[in-house]
Amino acid sequence: MTNKFKYFIANWKMFGDFSSIKIVNSISSYLKRAKIKKNKVIFCVPSTLISHFSKNIKKSNISIGAQNCHYLDNYGPYTGSLNAKMLREVGAKYVIVGHSENRKEGDTDKIINKKIKSSIKNNLIVIFCIGETLKQKRKKTTNKVLNNQIKKGLSGLKSLKKIIVAYEPVWSIGTGIIPSEKELNTSLSFVRRKLISRFKTKNLVKVVYGGSVNPKNISELSRNNEIDGFLIGGASQSKKKFIDIIKNCYM
Ligand code: PGA
Repeated sequence: MTNKFKYFIANWKMFGDFSSIKIVNSISSYLKRAKIKKNKVIFCVPSTLISHFSKNIKKSNISIGAQNCHYLDNYGPYTGSLNAKMLREVGAKYVIVGHSENRKEGDTDKIINKKIKSSIKNNLIVIFCIGETLKQKRKKTTNKVLNNQIKKGLSGLKSLKKIIVAYEPVWSIGTGIIPSEKELNTSLSFVRRKLISRFKTKNLVKVVYGGSVNPKNISELSRNNEIDGFLIGGASQSKKKFIDIIKNCYM
């Protein structure tokens, strides 16, 4: 349980259709009913749904986000791609960048850095994902990996104002396994320290945790003061699970 301000960021991945707005609106009603105010809820939905959701979402403090973007600001010959400007235009306020599923498909730190810069320029708040693979964890190179991803991904940036860092151990995504309290504290405090020393600010540092967050493990995770919120994949597609996550976090 916690009484701290938390982010709850849903990552729907390649799931959902127009009718799924019911889920978002139920959550909005729940938040009003339960009078839970110390939070920010963001739904990062497939790009096909951004416009529909932004227009039809009940009046609430829930925001809609995208899950990725192209690294260029301008239009260009990139079949199937969408840039930050286009996503902003249809109603996205946030964008996930650097998710491990996209890193696996070729997003390098350099490309991620360009995407972050383009997103900020186009007034999107970036959810910047970092995290080590199981192999890297076994080789005990977690801190080195995180340091590199932060250094290269945020290269040239002057402020953290428009950035939420999401620490997502790759081995935890979709596996049902979460890091031990000790592992989590070690990685999260390392990330926080790096961000504080790089940007010379404590107040603007926001680090959320992602990887198999569910209604059961949220009580344990919410007690961790290093965590400013959660990036939730699988469980965020279920209205009941998402509400239970929020409920169990505060009660
Ligand atoms: P998961 O996904 O909650 O299903 O593990 C998290 C993510 O990929 O962001």
